[in-house]
Amino acid sequence: MKVLAILGSPIRKRNSETLSKKVIESIENHISTDESIEVDFVSVQNLKVSPCVACDRCTRIKGCVFQDDMTHLYKAFNDSDIILFSSPLYFNSVSAQAKAIIDRCQAIFSSKYALKDPMIDRNRKRIGLFISTAGVDMKDDPELFKGTLPVMDLFFRAINTEYLGNLFVGNVDRVKVVDNPEALASAEEWGRILTNKYSLR
Ligand SMILES: Cc1cc2nc3c(=O)[nH]c(=O)nc-3n(C[C@H](O)[C@H](O)[C@H](O)COP(=O)(O)O)c2cc1C
Repeated sequence: MKVLAILGSPIRKRNSETLSKKVIESIENHISTDESIEVDFVSVQNLKVSPCVACDRCTRIKGCVFQDDMTHLYKAFNDSDIILFSSPLYFNSVSAQAKAIIDRCQAIFSSKYALKDPMIDRNRKRIGLFISTAGVDMKDDPELFKGTLPVMDLFFRAINTEYLGNLFVGNVDRVKVVDNPEALASAEEWGRILTNKYSLR
């Protein structure tokens, strides 16, 4: 099993990373003993990803004009079974660093629909989870994460990954995820769900 975890917070070891790591720990605990697991953690803090400049080259030539850390991610999207994409909620959306990665998937989109020569193997089964944390309490705004949903839906469709669901935790500026047993239990549960779904593929 290959797991790709994209950590979309510009700061390491914070709430969205804690949740991602908890989900992975749970996958490791639930995976069958004859299965091996390879985890690729990619933090936006260490990545160089230029924002898409809409040059349109990808509609004529397969791939992106920029040679940066997306080269690794394009391959990792293709090769992964489980994709965990995490981001803090910034102005009701994902972080700018996370959005740069998403926009650069335009090259994958073009390879499928303009060039009809997909960069991504459309027959491989991949499953995805979106993890996000926010300062506002979901009790005060139950639709807090609403703005991220169509973005993530299109992203997971671009990379031919079944978008299984979301792990959303609010109020993290007051109660950190590490001090929130309910949030950690949800992460644990998502690890179980993803492992089950993977084993049924
Ligand atoms: C630029 C910026 C924008 C933010 N926008 C929102 C927001 O729209 N809604 C919200 O609830 N919290 C917002 N926050 C708070 C963050 O979502 C919260 O601190 C974050 O989930 C922490 O994630 P991390 O610990 O993984 O970095 C914002 C924080 C920053 C720095």
